[in-house]
Amino acid sequence: MKRLTLREGVILLSVFLIVLLSSYLAASAASTDKWAQWRKSGHANRQLALEEATVEQRQATAAHCGRCHAGQGFLAWLPQLQKGDPGLIQGPGGTPATVGYLSMLGLNKFTVQPQTCTTCHNPDFTLRITGSTPLLPAGFKAEGVGEGALCMTCHNTRNGKIGWNDPDPKRWTAPHTASQADVIMSKNAYFLNYEEMKASPHAAFTGDACVTCHVKLNPESHTFKAQRTVCTNCHGPNFTADAVQKPIRALLHEVEEAIARRVLAAKEKIATIRAWDPKTDQYTPNFAVRGADIVKVELEEIHGQQGLKFVLRDGRELYSQLGDVKDAAGKPVFPTSDVIVRAGWNYWLIEGDDSFGVHNPSFARAVLLRTLEVLQK
Ligand code: HEC
Ligand code: HEC
Ligand code: HEC
Ligand code: HEC
Ligand code: HEC
Repeated sequence: MKRLTLREGVILLSVFLIVLLSSYLAASAASTDKWAQWRKSGHANRQLALEEATVEQRQATAAHCGRCHAGQGFLAWLPQLQKGDPGLIQGPGGTPATVGYLSMLGLNKFTVQPQTCTTCHNPDFTLRITGSTPLLPAGFKAEGVGEGALCMTCHNTRNGKIGWNDPDPKRWTAPHTASQADVIMSKNAYFLNYEEMKASPHAAFTGDACVTCHVKLNPESHTFKAQRTVCTNCHGPNFTADAVQKPIRALLHEVEEAIARRVLAAKEKIATIRAWDPKTDQYTPNFAVRGADIVKVELEEIHGQQGLKFVLRDGRELYSQLGDVKDAAGKPVFPTSDVIVRAGWNYWLIEGDDSFGVHNPSFARAVLLRTLEVLQK
């Protein structure tokens, strides 16, 4: 083989360097792009991480919320989750994590991070979870959902598995607002046997579930927002989110009204509440209320619990968690076995999902219609 002259060598080397440099520039332009897009997304919201996932705000319960609300917490939790334990972040040797340990992981006000590039990506930019999820805090695995498995690991109700025909949930808990995985997989609703129901075609037959609509078909992939017109890619030019959202919003409202009617029917029994002030986030225990003065009721989620907003005759607005609405004897007016507790869970499941039916049109509809049927009995 002919040996290269110096001149040829220099040309070859420069070509090599130019190719290397331009591919580096292209790659960094792509990630600058992604960086700018990510900055606009909720995943860049460090304030929420500060509030929910630092030892200063939450002491040792940062081991709970920090699983999803801090990048560092998620990475500490992942190996444990993959071994089949979706519980709280553990300390060394499986002991309960202490404040010191959690702070060392980074869950403190100086270093806590929200969902960053390294939360979702391995160092080579592949995704940390694909295909199927491990057992989730919501009590199920999402199987065969492509790249959407990553999203579902955090976006689930995280309050364990619901017994669909359980007559008494023994708590007033609301499903965590991130109910998207439960809804798209048809899980964790009361009154209908969801174990017999199929996952939405949007989870099973779009290739990558969440990632198909929120990343791949999103022109600004790393804002993670789905466009309301995304449907046209698969369902033709005239089909948009409204087709599903309009009727589902109306049904949600009907369920809220039906629960409110039941509360109003029992209002004479109400003697005290633990009033919560949305402005100061403080509670006033044993706050006396004349039930007869209540003229309007709306549903409100208060610190992870189902709650009510009461409007009184004089226009005052009062809030209370459902379990703190008590009668003159100090007993809950709506015990956990009351049908409105299960109906309220279903309401918050579909409301929290925030797609108003798009994720799983048939399931959202079935849950709301069945809930109305039970409430009207
Ligand atoms: C490590 C946990 C975690 C993972 C993984 C995750 N998310 Fe999120 N996501 C969050 C949290 C926490 C919020 C709330 C942010 C807020 O309210 O400011 C959120 C908010 C969102 C929102 C609300 C819109 C917004 O920008 O405020 C969308 C949409 C979303 N995520 C989509 C996705 C998709 C799609 C994936 C998978 C590619 C994904 N998420 C993976 C934790 C996660
Ligand atoms: C399994 C993952 C997971 C865990 C654990 C978790 N969250 Fe979340 N949380 C999310 C996701 C994902 C969102 C975003 C949901 C959405 O935008 O629909 C969210 C949203 C929130 C929001 C609403 C933010 C908003 O702007 O509406 C609050 C508040 C919140 N979480 C508090 C908590 C607290 C407090 C804990 C611990 C007791 C906790 N979370 C534990 C995943 C989780
Ligand atoms: C919430 C999870 C999430 C976060 C946070 C995230 N990404 Fe991504 N990223 C994804 C997903 C999902 C894809 C796959 C999209 C696809 O297949 O088209 C992706 C794809 C990419 C790709 C393309 C990889 C390839 O092989 O083509 C790059 C580069 C990238 N992300 C960079 C970043 C950077 C830089 C950040 C931080 C600014 C970031 N990502 C944050 C979920 C995330
Ligand atoms: C078929 C497409 C599609 C799939 C699949 C999908 N979404 Fe959505 N998603 C949407 C649309 C459309 C909306 C409504 C946007 C609107 O009304 O502005 C939405 C709304 C949301 C919202 C609330 C909107 C916001 O910006 O706060 C979150 C959070 C979310 N999706 C997360 C997910 C997660 C997590 C998954 C997977 C479990 C998923 N989505 C799967 C299309 C999809
Ligand atoms: C990536 C492709 C894709 C996108 C984007 C998409 N869909 Fe679908 N959708 C499907 C598939 C596949 C099915 C199942 C086959 C069928 O029914 O045609 C389906 C089924 C449906 C169904 C019937 C499902 C049921 O639960 O009975 C409705 C309603 C629907 N989509 C609405 C929407 C709306 C609204 C949007 C936009 C917000 C949307 N889809 C976006 C692929 C998509």
